[in-house]
Amino acid sequence: MSQTGFVQVKNLCKYYPVPKKKFWEKKSYVRAVEHVSFSIKKGETFGLVGESGCGKSTTGFMINGLLKPTSGEINLDSKDIQSIKEKEIREKMQFVFQDPYASLNPKKKIGWILEEPLLIHKKYSKEERQKKVSQMIELVGFDESFKNRYPHELSGGQRQRVGIARALMLSPEFIIADEPVSALDVSVQAQILNLLKELQSKFNLTYLFISHDLNVVHYMCDRIGVMYLGKIVEQGAVEEIYKNPQHPYTKLLLSSIPSKDINFDENQFFSKEEISIEDHKGGCTFYPRCPYGMEKCKNILPKIKEIEKEHLIACHLY
Ligand SMILES: Nc1ncnc2c1ncn2[C@@H]1O[C@H](COP(=O)(O)OP(=O)(O)OP(=O)(O)O)[C@@H](O)[C@H]1O
Ligand SMILES: [Mg+2]
Repeated sequence: MSQTGFVQVKNLCKYYPVPKKKFWEKKSYVRAVEHVSFSIKKGETFGLVGESGCGKSTTGFMINGLLKPTSGEINLDSKDIQSIKEKEIREKMQFVFQDPYASLNPKKKIGWILEEPLLIHKKYSKEERQKKVSQMIELVGFDESFKNRYPHELSGGQRQRVGIARALMLSPEFIIADEPVSALDVSVQAQILNLLKELQSKFNLTYLFISHDLNVVHYMCDRIGVMYLGKIVEQGAVEEIYKNPQHPYTKLLLSSIPSKDINFDENQFFSKEEISIEDHKGGCTFYPRCPYGMEKCKNILPKIKEIEKEHLIACHLY
């Protein structure tokens, strides 16, 4: 990576132990995230995209500190997050969830929900806190009366606005948004995405944006990492990857966008149902589905190569 990022992830791995069915069975693991590395520049949006179960959320949870990595390194503003106190991490980095309802206390009014992070972090006087809450309420598009509403009195889109407002109360510099609009109607999705963009330029926020929705990722991100079964197979500027995908999996993934004119036949790929994950035996995880698979793809893990500036790919074809 040519430029030091504000957020840097190096060789991140998470293996979940699989419960043994019989006591003599060997201990096995789900390799949810394997050797994932990327860096996010200050003020940009880096996207993680890939189909369900590829390890996007696990990556986000590890960076956020909610999940301990099996191995690897996470640096925030050039400091290893393991060496930063929890309180300081929360003041720098926050999370926006897919379902804000689950994280909003149903018994508390919106005003309290927004004030709470300031209380926990012992920030400001009572008057100043109230002023901050009012400012934030306005910033996310509400009027003062919303302070006295309860979460169940809000629509899904309004609740997500509260989720975003709460995430911003401590003035963090970095936000991890995990599928922030996938639970919302399409008409509301654009409003929330635009709000995230507005807030980003106002506060120079850095985003890690996680989504399986290719159109949303295209709209939001500057650079992306395409994940397949725990690994980033291709990484680069979103425009370049969408115009000129190189990895066979990226081509397959992008071919599902109706407006996309990618010149290849997706029927030549093997479907997930036809293959066993065990088929790759230490080689490329996409090998079992790949129509271009060669002998070495079966056994040798492809190294990550930079095929053009900041365009990385892990595939033996390159
Ligand atoms: N707590 C856990 N214990 C065991 N396996 C887990 C656990 N959490 C996730 N996994 C597995 O790890 C892999 C990655 O899951 P993860 O939730 O990170 O994927 P994702 O890309 O976010 O998927 P989605 O798009 O469905 O949200 C999956 O195979 C999943 O089943
Ligand atoms: Mg997820």
